[in-house]
Amino acid sequence: MDGNGRWATLQGKSRIEGHRRGKTSVRVIVEMSRKLRIPYLTLFAFSTENWLRPHDEVYALMGLLETYLIAEQPKMMRYGIRLQAVGDRDRLPANVRRTLEDVIELTRDNNRMTVVLALSYSGRDEVVRMANKIARKIGDGELQPGDIDEEIVSNHMDTPDVPDPDLLIRTSGEMRISNFYLWQIAYSELYVTPTLWPDFREREYHQALMEFQRRRRRFGRTDEQASEPARLNAGSGGSES
Ligand code: FPP
Repeated sequence: MDGNGRWATLQGKSRIEGHRRGKTSVRVIVEMSRKLRIPYLTLFAFSTENWLRPHDEVYALMGLLETYLIAEQPKMMRYGIRLQAVGDRDRLPANVRRTLEDVIELTRDNNRMTVVLALSYSGRDEVVRMANKIARKIGDGELQPGDIDEEIVSNHMDTPDVPDPDLLIRTSGEMRISNFYLWQIAYSELYVTPTLWPDFREREYHQALMEFQRRRRRFGRTDEQASEPARLNAGSGGSES
């Protein structure tokens, strides 16, 4: 969800105002995903590198996150939305962490849609966490080194029960992954739009989904083998549909 700061600068507003408007885009995109029955949506809300931003901005972002969680919790229950999080929760302020964990717990049995928030997250950090979890199990004798395969690695990432994303949308035109999901996006379709996140609303999301539907996903096969156009949730676990 990139471009909040640039949006604010263009409007002559504070960066925090950009994040505030970005929060409205979050609500719009979650709502539209729900209506379109998109079963999994991950939002990269705060990276491990974002901790280096000025204290006021970090504080404001944490506040926006907490108020979002509190305000959206009834809607999550009403519409069967399960909340999950990826990232290093230990670094979050205690109140934000508590609210996050309460909402995760409250919504754990909802099964119509899963929203994953990437918070204090970086792809490399997650890979290190995964390696530590596996190493600990090997130390405890629960796993043998020879057991490690793609399935074991996937199962030790932050959200083992969330399928790999079919589509990765990056706003604000940057042609980078910026330490987002590294393992999970092996076969994701990439869509980069110059639209800044605060302006990314129904029309832009619709365009991204239409573009995705025109893609041909081959998963390493030939064009003839992969004659089907792209379908959402076709690529779970990096395997073919
Ligand atoms: C990147 O834009 C955006 C962020 C670091 C924060 C994203 C947060 C929100 C959209 C609001 C709160 C989130 C939730 C889930 C309610 P940037 O600040 O890096 O923009 P720039 O590159 O233009 O400076």
